[in-house]
Amino acid sequence: MSVITEIEDLRRLHQRRVPRMFYDYVDVGAWTGSTYRANRADFESILFRQRVARNIEARSLATTMMGEPVSMPLALAPVGLLGMQHPDGEIHAARAARAAGVPFTLSTMSMCSLEDIAEASGAPFWFQLYTLRDEEFLDNVLDRARRAGVTVLVLTLDLTIQGQRHKDLKNSMTAPPRLTLPNMLDIARHPRWALGMLRTKRRGFGNIIGHARGVDDLGDLMSWTGQQFDQRLDWARVEEIIRKWGGKVILKGINDPEDAKRGVQTGADAILVSNHGGRQLDGAPSTIRALPRIRRAVGTDYPLYLDGGIQSGQEALKAIACGADGVFIGRAFTYGLGAMGQKGVETAIEILRREMDITMALCGVNEIADFGPDCLWSEDAT
Ligand code: GLV
Repeated sequence: MSVITEIEDLRRLHQRRVPRMFYDYVDVGAWTGSTYRANRADFESILFRQRVARNIEARSLATTMMGEPVSMPLALAPVGLLGMQHPDGEIHAARAARAAGVPFTLSTMSMCSLEDIAEASGAPFWFQLYTLRDEEFLDNVLDRARRAGVTVLVLTLDLTIQGQRHKDLKNSMTAPPRLTLPNMLDIARHPRWALGMLRTKRRGFGNIIGHARGVDDLGDLMSWTGQQFDQRLDWARVEEIIRKWGGKVILKGINDPEDAKRGVQTGADAILVSNHGGRQLDGAPSTIRALPRIRRAVGTDYPLYLDGGIQSGQEALKAIACGADGVFIGRAFTYGLGAMGQKGVETAIEILRREMDITMALCGVNEIADFGPDCLWSEDAT
């Protein structure tokens, strides 16, 4: 195996080691993929200022997110189906996050349950929730999250209907996989993955199966999820869910200044500027492009995070300089998970940490709090 020095190395390994339908599930955008590509490409035109002779020996990336100490301003985003990238994938990712001192966010659509993560990672974690119609399930899952020690609820607002992703449809993507002939051949080509999957019992959606009324197996689950995404979602409902939870909330999936302003009025503690990694509305602006206007809309002090396209420490710092208080990564750590389990997630986080540290040094900055617009090159500045 060649030396792993960047996220792209993990992506290539992931692609080799995991059946195509699961790799594709992660590395896909909706429709033409233009927003998916813009999320990364739009970082390129943002330039750092190279600064020298500023004594950068005592620099540190440590800060807080949602009032919790973190070793750098980066959290693992909720990603569905991690347990299909690697057996017990959510447990591996949660442990890696804990070892690295960054938050882990469990997706509703995970293979491992809230209880699994509480037991295996032994650390407080964050939980992502879709706005679902089944009120009994909603009350229950919020209770379970509280008991599992979840400290922050990440409420997803941009998936009340799923964006169309051609590859998933063509691959007949389900979890566990539907055994079509192409899928069986795909699995047969990945015997190590298949053996690992046979050894774990966590092959269904652990947060849902057995917890939602009438959902005892995969067949029930497919029809349940089909009916659950709540297209009636409005701000009153968002406020109701925030009240029900009663703890800290991040609103995820806002990519427009007006929505951001309204989001602040709900009393939520933070906003995660996100277009779902370009998986929902193809043709929407990249998050890095939307961020400066959203920052102006919510004011300087409101906590704002960003995800979408971040696969290097430079991109993370550009987002921070443009107004984010921290970033979430999704694909970047999932590639690591598919490539090498917990060690791969740790490697992904360390790659980003090193890149952020060296970049901050070369920009002549010691504290992450000082990494602002002033660190970016502007043609008009004197
Ligand atoms: C779910 O959130 C997905 O993007 O597939």
